[in-house]
Amino acid sequence: MLTVRTVRQMRRAAARMRARGTVGFVPTMGYLHEGHLELVRHARARCDSSVVSIFVNPIQFGPGEDLDRYPRDIARDLRLLRAVGAGCAFAPRIGEMYPPGFATRVDTGELGRRLCGRFRPGHFNGVATVVVRLLSIVRPDVAVFGQKDAQQAVIIRRVVRDLGLDTEVDVQPTVREPDGLAMSSRNVRLSADERRAAPVLYRSLELARDLVSRGEDRPAAIRARMRRLIRTEPLVRLQYLAIVAPGDLRPVRRIAGETLVALAAFLGQTRLIDNVLLCTGRNAAGRLDTGRG
Ligand code: PAF
Repeated sequence: MLTVRTVRQMRRAAARMRARGTVGFVPTMGYLHEGHLELVRHARARCDSSVVSIFVNPIQFGPGEDLDRYPRDIARDLRLLRAVGAGCAFAPRIGEMYPPGFATRVDTGELGRRLCGRFRPGHFNGVATVVVRLLSIVRPDVAVFGQKDAQQAVIIRRVVRDLGLDTEVDVQPTVREPDGLAMSSRNVRLSADERRAAPVLYRSLELARDLVSRGEDRPAAIRARMRRLIRTEPLVRLQYLAIVAPGDLRPVRRIAGETLVALAAFLGQTRLIDNVLLCTGRNAAGRLDTGRG
């Protein structure tokens, strides 16, 4: 596996890969887990070459968020990427991604202010800015994202479409622990008690799925049942619970067609997010659509 640290090297390596065939790209902030590795396997299966970026992007963290505490272990990440057969790891330093004088931000508008954006102002502008910068360096045919970050996936798809970038955004299902907890780099920061409590989040999403499958279509009734279940775990502090349309992330008045049930919660200092996509008609697989920009 090739490991590159500079934008210049990455551009050259990507050009060589493009000359040989298609390029799949998985952007990450490192501290890789099985969820990331599944995205890498998927990129490898879909494309002739694969690139994985490892970069903890400072501009997507707000003041008081966990930038300094975000888990990092680059040596372990590179070992894992070698083991799954990634073609190239791109691990730039901050000055490579944001050279002195870097001033541009992608504005994700209303989509970036909904759901998590209400509590993390500027977060999605930071995500979109780094993703656009990474896409402009790697110029992949396919960029693979996880559905756990559903709002991020919706926003990146919109950015790619609006800016006319020539990359397909491919969203892959959330990988879960056996007890349902969505895999996340932040899970390592849960205490033993918090880890035991955390799966209630997924159980609440499964409850929503079950209620809808039995004909419940009133978002308020579903949210009330979910909140009641989550309250059985006093270590879990729900930040938001939203039932929205996956296209514009606006609350729905009735569950019909595709509906995203998304939540964020704190366990101690650790903030977790999760979601399920409910489908009462077509696209019964419950996945965000793949789209080309
Ligand atoms: O999902 C993430 O890990 C990050 O938000 C991303 C897409 C790598 C941008 O920093």
